Amino acid sequence: MAEPQAIHLKDYLPPAYLVDDVALKFDLDDHATRVSARLKMRRHPQREAGLPLELFGTALRLTHIAIEGQPLDEDEYRLDAERLVIAKVPERFELTTEVIIDPAANTALEGLYRSSSMFCTQCEPEGFRRITYYPDRPDVMATFTTTVIGDRERLPVLLSNGNPTESGELPNGRHFVTWRDPFPKPSYLFALVAGALEKVEDHFTTVSGRQVTLQIWVERENLDKTEFAMGALKRAMKWDEEAYGREYDLDLFMIVAVNDFNMGAMENKGLNIFNSSAVLANPATTVDANFQRVEGIVAHEYFHNWSGNRVTCRDWFQLALKEGFTVFRDQSFSADVNSAPVKRIEDVSVLRTMQFAEDAGPTAHPVRPESFIEISNFYTLTVYEKGAEIVRMLRQLLGAERFRTGADLYFSRFDGQAVRVEDFVSSMSEAGDVDLTRFMRWYAQAGTPVLDVEGEYDAKAQVYRLKVRQHTPATPGQPAERKLPLHLPLRLGLLDAGGAAIPLWLDGESRGTDTVVELFEAEHEFRFERVPSAPVPSLLRGFSAPVKLRFPYDREQLALLVKYDEDGFNRWDAGQRLALAAIEEVMLALQAGAEPRLDPTLLDVFTHLLDTPSDDLAVLAEMLKLPSEAYIAGEQEAIDIDAIHQARRFVTRALGEALEPRFRALFEANQSEAPYAPSFEQIAQRSLRNVALGYLCATGGEKALHLAQHQFEQDRNMTDVRAALTLLAHSDAHQLGDPAVKAFGERWAHDPLVMDQWFAIQVTRPQPDVLDRVRFLMRHPAFSIKNPNKVRALIGAFANLNRVNFHRLDGEGYRLVADVVIELNRLNPDIAARIVTPLTRFQRLDAKRQSLMRAELERIRREPLSRNLFEVIEKALA
Ligand code: PHE
Ligand code: ZN
Repeated sequence: MAEPQAIHLKDYLPPAYLVDDVALKFDLDDHATRVSARLKMRRHPQREAGLPLELFGTALRLTHIAIEGQPLDEDEYRLDAERLVIAKVPERFELTTEVIIDPAANTALEGLYRSSSMFCTQCEPEGFRRITYYPDRPDVMATFTTTVIGDRERLPVLLSNGNPTESGELPNGRHFVTWRDPFPKPSYLFALVAGALEKVEDHFTTVSGRQVTLQIWVERENLDKTEFAMGALKRAMKWDEEAYGREYDLDLFMIVAVNDFNMGAMENKGLNIFNSSAVLANPATTVDANFQRVEGIVAHEYFHNWSGNRVTCRDWFQLALKEGFTVFRDQSFSADVNSAPVKRIEDVSVLRTMQFAEDAGPTAHPVRPESFIEISNFYTLTVYEKGAEIVRMLRQLLGAERFRTGADLYFSRFDGQAVRVEDFVSSMSEAGDVDLTRFMRWYAQAGTPVLDVEGEYDAKAQVYRLKVRQHTPATPGQPAERKLPLHLPLRLGLLDAGGAAIPLWLDGESRGTDTVVELFEAEHEFRFERVPSAPVPSLLRGFSAPVKLRFPYDREQLALLVKYDEDGFNRWDAGQRLALAAIEEVMLALQAGAEPRLDPTLLDVFTHLLDTPSDDLAVLAEMLKLPSEAYIAGEQEAIDIDAIHQARRFVTRALGEALEPRFRALFEANQSEAPYAPSFEQIAQRSLRNVALGYLCATGGEKALHLAQHQFEQDRNMTDVRAALTLLAHSDAHQLGDPAVKAFGERWAHDPLVMDQWFAIQVTRPQPDVLDRVRFLMRHPAFSIKNPNKVRALIGAFANLNRVNFHRLDGEGYRLVADVVIELNRLNPDIAARIVTPLTRFQRLDAKRQSLMRAELERIRREPLSRNLFEVIEKALA
């Protein structure tokens, strides 16, 4: 077999032929679904005449092909495993084909597949070619008419994009529905769903007064989990009208929940298909964080209707055009309807732990990649989250108003078109009247930029000089010396020794107490005047750019920022820096075999936080959380897995012991009798309460564990139950943990989404016996390797969140994950290539672990690999 080849952005050519209109007919059957297609095609006006027609197709059995009704002879076309090429076609023609596909055998979950009792599709990025022969690329946009035929009994509901136009009975107990989508769309937005589904329905009246019917389709047992998503959808529709002036354009908007899905959800025109984990929610089964995730994803997919569907991507290199912008939009929405500072803290945490790790690893790539082997591998944190940070910087640089003008311009100018990142940025540059030439480098340059900042105070002149240098470390294919300086906004302020904000004077101009300076060059110096005393700078407020900021803070300065900075985000960040320093100090002691101690400054700051009434409980809860092991690891030159784990535990326990009465009081003060609501006020309360319980349990005291047990038994809502169960299950107190785990598993055996949580809780146990538990649970009847949610809950959670055990020195953790990857490579290449990620992150580990991890990757490489896994493994072992 030939090695998979890379595709390059620089080789882009428009398609030789366009499709104006498509008529599809599906005759649904588990193993032999018949798909007939009629494509109205014409030559692309910018391409020369006489070019062959190239259509993509994978795993299709062609039974008929004709042009203008005239069946083709076998020598008139060429077929291989991926393509159908017709040497000669007219300028304008109608192509008809018929193929047979096997949805029941489709374990890759791309194209048409079975999930539980239903049929559904996933076409982004290149799944449509598993349905019919087609120029399956986003710059080919057509209107679609789709007729779905199925068994009336088994498949009473037949859905596709757009509006239903016709339906009726057919012989042999079959029936059909025809759907028409009037908006031209790329094939990746096509969708079909068929099954025994039930719906909840609601309505939304748009700004211009049009009534839109909203439907959420689920299996009957999930009808009691749809209310929250419906509310979220209406909030999102309203928000998009107000914040971006975007109105919905069809009369019907549908969401369907499916159990087997590779990603979170998909924005198919008028028919969003959701992983059930990203839409179903109710208080008994869903934790607060998942309510918020549902709200964010419902909004995200809805927002795509404009940023993605009405204006789409020219090619897949431009993926961040729709994803970065849409993530930014859903982040802004969630910030507006919840606690804005906490939303920012959460988003930055994800970026700094996971995206920074991607940037530092073997698959690092620019937000707009220059080449790929398998595009599915590029639905990454870099494209999504860093892509969103880029849009956020644009908003910071332009200001809210001009940013909105730029967005309006972009939507109106490119409506109905498939465009590039340049089109978005030039709309912003035009509306904002700013030069964004250098800014474009953010899309092209991989890696996390580092800002090295130094401050120098001249008491006599009352001048404070801030020197800022930036550089971006090397990434695969981009050596450090080729990295160029980036254009970025640095938001900052200065505090005096008492914590008061110092008025800012820059170049003779007053800037209040919070300002933004722009960097373009490798080095800048900012000279602040009229500074009465040596200041403490508060830098990168709100995380104004996705960079690593280095400043030689001492612990007292960090404590000052935690207590007094006017920027909530930086108060939190200073606390994280302080906690990190305290943990690192313990790591050093442990490595030297010395007695570790709890940093008194950290203790002082925690005491202050617990004793000072706070008006933002949600932020307080975040401030009381220590940085995760993954984040700590990301900050180390050389990663010592065990020292990180031990040191973090030590600091948690020491804080718990030193502040026990205060945590106890916090725990009790945040007991609420109100009926559960996923409101941010209540979420903050529960979060505080459970953070407190965590510190109490970390002391290992029996009293604390009984509090957890009591909370578990009270059974008020899943948030509190799960928090308590996790503490019990992760403690050494088997006599408490084991029965609780067992009871929970039996009670919820019927609910797959709760069982996912049950799996994750067990496989993240820090104790060394966990590996047997993972193996045991892989044979549990509720587990299936074919279901991505199960694989993530069991294997993903183990490999990513249970660092001490995944990285066991006997290599058993690595071996287990590699075995799963090898099996998934045959079943679901997309998930295989994602689940392997932790095995590729060996670069800063010790030699022993590096060689064990490499050996597992080599073992995987000896398999006949899918394109997805081939690309990741080659890059990791390069
Ligand atoms: N486009 C989807 C989103 O961002 C993600 C997705 C990609 C879903 C590929 C399925 C397959 O919401
Ligand atoms: Zn998206």
